[in-house]
Amino acid sequence: MTAATPSAQWSSRLGFILASAGSAIGLGAMWKFPYWAGENGGAAFIIPFILFTFTTGVVLVIAELALGRAGRGSVVEAMRRAGGRSFMWLGGLAVLTAFLILSYYAVVGGWCTAYLVEAATGQAVSADPEELKIHFGELVRSGGRNIAWLMVFLAAVCGTALCGVQRGIERLSKILMPGFFLLMVGLAASSLMLPGAWDGVEYLFKFSWEDVTPEVILNAMGFTFFSLSLGAGILVTYGAYVKKETPLPAASMWVGVLSVQAALLAGLVIMPAVFAYGLEPNAGPGLVFITLPLIFSQIPAGGLFAVLFYLCLLVAALTSAVSLLEVAVAFLVHEFGFSRRSAVLLYFAGLFILSCVSALSFGPWSGFRIFDRIIFDFLDYICTNFLMTLNGFAVAILMGWKAWPRMVNELSRPDEAGRTTSKTTLAAIGVGLKWLAPLMVLAACWEGVWGLLQSALAALF
Ligand code: TRP
Repeated sequence: MTAATPSAQWSSRLGFILASAGSAIGLGAMWKFPYWAGENGGAAFIIPFILFTFTTGVVLVIAELALGRAGRGSVVEAMRRAGGRSFMWLGGLAVLTAFLILSYYAVVGGWCTAYLVEAATGQAVSADPEELKIHFGELVRSGGRNIAWLMVFLAAVCGTALCGVQRGIERLSKILMPGFFLLMVGLAASSLMLPGAWDGVEYLFKFSWEDVTPEVILNAMGFTFFSLSLGAGILVTYGAYVKKETPLPAASMWVGVLSVQAALLAGLVIMPAVFAYGLEPNAGPGLVFITLPLIFSQIPAGGLFAVLFYLCLLVAALTSAVSLLEVAVAFLVHEFGFSRRSAVLLYFAGLFILSCVSALSFGPWSGFRIFDRIIFDFLDYICTNFLMTLNGFAVAILMGWKAWPRMVNELSRPDEAGRTTSKTTLAAIGVGLKWLAPLMVLAACWEGVWGLLQSALAALF
């Protein structure tokens, strides 16, 4: 039933780091970060986000990777080996979480695909804000077009998964991630050169103590969690493909650095341009799909910039979606002996149905609501507030307390040069994992629990 030896491995350390960074850098960094940072008071959000990333965030990344490498199988197997049957069920929940996240993530992936193609054919860009709003609204609310693009995106995700870990995920990340960074640096530089761009930088990085509210801190925690791809078994699954000699703390630090860098770059591409053209910085989710095309219509060679930007957006979404699918694929392959091919095809069918439901919830089915949310929002709410945090908490307890010797063992493996993790680093990781991470996870889900209680009470009275 279970495989003692991993069926696949990353071919190089760089490939592994880029694949993990590819998972981390996604719509969270590109789509959510710029408008969230703006809405949450700029630096008051960004500073805690960076602090959380390099403390509890990276520690949890190390823990997930260590759990995966020690488990040498799917997330279910890894959790069973480290924590017994009760934790095995939590591993199963992680598989479900990854599957559910992917089902709605793919909808936005479909929009990115649509916008890339439209940018390439010159349709996405317009100088009329109303027209852009209507255009985005039509895509989002339409049944057919939404589903068609979703299908294209899912086909790309499944196609990558079919090619396997080394030839699919690793190769894709090795080609796309460096390209992504180069393009984003270029785009940020051009955006910063626009007249009036500096106001955007100020908006993003201005700091005022009044903005530091508990809510902003909680939002920063939740965002750190989502942006590092924690809590859905991703890094546990990727960890199983990591060579014994790879030092996990250093690799995890790199993932943290790249993920923060990508988010900041996205902010520096978008905000300076928004301010240079006197547009609304807190346009919410529509920022990338409505505000940006307006800017592209005004800057010289805007059509080209549009194509490059939506290409980056799609790359970010694709490498993250691929990581979400891998959790579920590894599960069927290791636990039930499926071939990779049949596992991927089965998921494709399942995902397609569930994603269609999410996609339709914007338009034809928008009247159907659970806890006052359309299905898309409800899935996101449940996954980010409950399922991911529950899993993150379980990993912290498991690797920090119950299976701490396993964690120490993984971190004490010598690398090729014979070096191991120093005692001080190990002690710091211990404090982070045993105390800070569980606290952070509980705090991050508090808002969700409170929100649910409030809606339940409102429904009752
Ligand atoms: N981190 C990705 C982003 O920022 C999304 C993502 C990929 C994710 N895998 C995940 C989020 C696992 C939570 C759990 O867009």
